[in-house]
Amino acid sequence: MNKKLIGGVTAVLAGIGLYRLISARQHDKAPAAGQWTTADMPDLTGKVIIVTGGNSGIGFEAAKEFARKGATTILACRSMNKAGAALTELKAELPDAAAEIMQLDLASLDSVRQFAAAFQARYDRLDVLVNNAGIMMVPYGTTADGFERQLGTNHLGHFALTGLLFDLLVRTPGARVVTVSSAAHHRGSMDFDNLMYENGEGYTPMGAYGRSKLANLLFTYELQRRFAALGTDVRATAAHPGISQTNLMGHMADRWYYKPVLLAAPLFLQSAAMGALPTLRAAVDPAAQGGEYFGPDGPGERGGYPVIVESSEDAHNEADVRRLWEVSEELTGVRFGELAGVNGR
Ligand SMILES: NC(=O)c1ccc[n+]([C@@H]2O[C@H](COP(=O)([O-])OP(=O)(O)OC[C@H]3O[C@@H](n4cnc5c(N)ncnc54)[C@H](OP(=O)(O)O)[C@@H]3O)[C@@H](O)[C@H]2O)c1
Repeated sequence: MNKKLIGGVTAVLAGIGLYRLISARQHDKAPAAGQWTTADMPDLTGKVIIVTGGNSGIGFEAAKEFARKGATTILACRSMNKAGAALTELKAELPDAAAEIMQLDLASLDSVRQFAAAFQARYDRLDVLVNNAGIMMVPYGTTADGFERQLGTNHLGHFALTGLLFDLLVRTPGARVVTVSSAAHHRGSMDFDNLMYENGEGYTPMGAYGRSKLANLLFTYELQRRFAALGTDVRATAAHPGISQTNLMGHMADRWYYKPVLLAAPLFLQSAAMGALPTLRAAVDPAAQGGEYFGPDGPGERGGYPVIVESSEDAHNEADVRRLWEVSEELTGVRFGELAGVNGR
């Protein structure tokens, strides 16, 4: 009886999942007039762009398009082997690309500091910082600094990175910070009494992922407020890729019940190249304003061409916006105002 019930529920859930995936795929098709594509990207010669997690999925596709348009593009990656392979692939398509790889592990504040120092020793401008790297629904674990892994990597690592590069961003006319969130932010909630699921208390892989993606948006809105308060034209924007074919679910491959989903995924998911479009638009569309959030225009924002989309009410909770900022400063030891030599508040 129980087995039948479980089988039935599984079949219904699989059916719903399949329907959602198929309808997302319908949007991986030629653009209609007025839909934003890479053809709308301006020339980026002379610009310097960092893409975290640039070796894979959305980050790799975005990096390729930045490079194609002439930007000096830095793939900031945790594995130099994977980064090297990605650079080889990029150069095979774009032999003249000004692309390079640098080591960055967002799950280690030491590594983030080393990256920021090495980058600033080489470059005197930063036109776009794309906070793209991420992990999804991993089992409970902690980063090198003892942070819960998903919040630590997806939010705190990027918070520290942005803070350490804040001066350079403010000094670069028209610079932008794009942070990649997810529709899963709707499923996240902040709990400052147990922000990082101490010792796994209350941890669910989806809950923690949703929280980290909600944090990406809370961060973006406060960052934009700070850029505006400084009177700079630097903008903080956000994006999400819908549901796209990448390696994000790769860590689930060893679980038998995910295997059929992972095998069938390429048939139904939109491509990583499509998934990169909201990030690209948030990064380079001259009309994009600070605080705007871009996602696909298809049903449920699962696939399609990039448009401005709404984030959840929770993402605009002013108290959470400020609290998360304070907590993130405390946890990472990175204080934006001090680093910039200005008082951002
Ligand atoms: N694909 C989707 O449908 C989807 C939906 C919503 C949101 N997103 C978001 O899109 C972003 C990109 O993900 P993706 O789908 O392109 O997945 P992906 O193919 O797995 O790429 C993720 C990238 O992040 C890197 N990364 C992970 N942990 C890192 C760390 N500690 N330090 C530095 N880099 C790290 C990965 O490096 P390795 O290659 O070494 O693992 C990889 O380059 C993520 O923020 C994700 O939350 C994706």
